Amino acid sequence: MVREQYITTTEGTHIERPENQSVYKIGIYGWRKRCLYLFVLLLLIILLVNLALTIWILKVMWFSPTGMGHLHVTEDGLRLEGDSEFLFPLYAKEIHSRVDSSLLLQSTQNVTVNARNPEGEVTGRLKVGPKMVEVQSQQFQISSKDSKPLFTVDEKAVVVGTDKLRVTGPEGALFEHSVETPLIKPDPIQDLRLESPTRSLSMDAPKGVHIQAAAGKIEALSQMDIVLHSSDGTLVLDAETMCLPKLAQGTQGPASSLQGLYEICACPDGKLYLSVAGVGTTCHENSHICL
Ligand SMILES: *[C@@H]1O[C@H](CO)[C@@H](O)[C@H](O)[C@H]1NC(C)=O
Repeated sequence: MVREQYITTTEGTHIERPENQSVYKIGIYGWRKRCLYLFVLLLLIILLVNLALTIWILKVMWFSPTGMGHLHVTEDGLRLEGDSEFLFPLYAKEIHSRVDSSLLLQSTQNVTVNARNPEGEVTGRLKVGPKMVEVQSQQFQISSKDSKPLFTVDEKAVVVGTDKLRVTGPEGALFEHSVETPLIKPDPIQDLRLESPTRSLSMDAPKGVHIQAAAGKIEALSQMDIVLHSSDGTLVLDAETMCLPKLAQGTQGPASSLQGLYEICACPDGKLYLSVAGVGTTCHENSHICL
């Protein structure tokens, strides 16, 4: 800036000054100079504050040459140490645990894993809740190490593929309808009972029923009649001794009352037949039955 100073001639001085003399000085003077200093001072203060703030932010945010606090930028990507909170969805291609540690997913509410199709509909769901674990899928399968199905559930059937299905509860297993199996047997040291406590028990096998007690006896007790009925075959009681210990014994009556009485006769092969009773034995009269 150029300031022009005009110097006036005062009265009484005898020095003649040339007219129109002007003094030019180069620089900033007076209040403008002070303003400039003030301005520079202000700038300096702002600069210092700025620097302090920057250092403060760097310190607060834990900036370091490798990253920011627990967040390190490495060649392979990001590495975050310490707890991290993502309040909104986190998109990731894979989630792995760290080497030699397990992976834990936990929540005080449900933990849900969904499988979706390209249209976004849920096709499979595994939900672990505080009260139950729920699997929503068309099929649920547990397989062994060599991918043999051990337990399979789908809409049609439950298949247990293990070598043994053991029900340990004291109430046993309850089947609302039939049980289909080729063999029912108990533990080797236990007896087997088939029981229908309040109703009847029926065994039905069109091609034959075989009951065998290889080292014991067979006993059939009944409150009412025991009927052994064969429509086409014979009833064979194959034993050395046959006893009817409680057979009622008749009392002697007049000979004329023989009508309607029969005698039991036996063929050599053990076949029994009835013969009309007479005063003496009449078996020989009807023995042609044995031929
Ligand atoms: C957790 O899951 C159960 C069963 O599906 C559901 O009834 C319950 O509402 C769920 N709880 C929350 C908080 O979503």
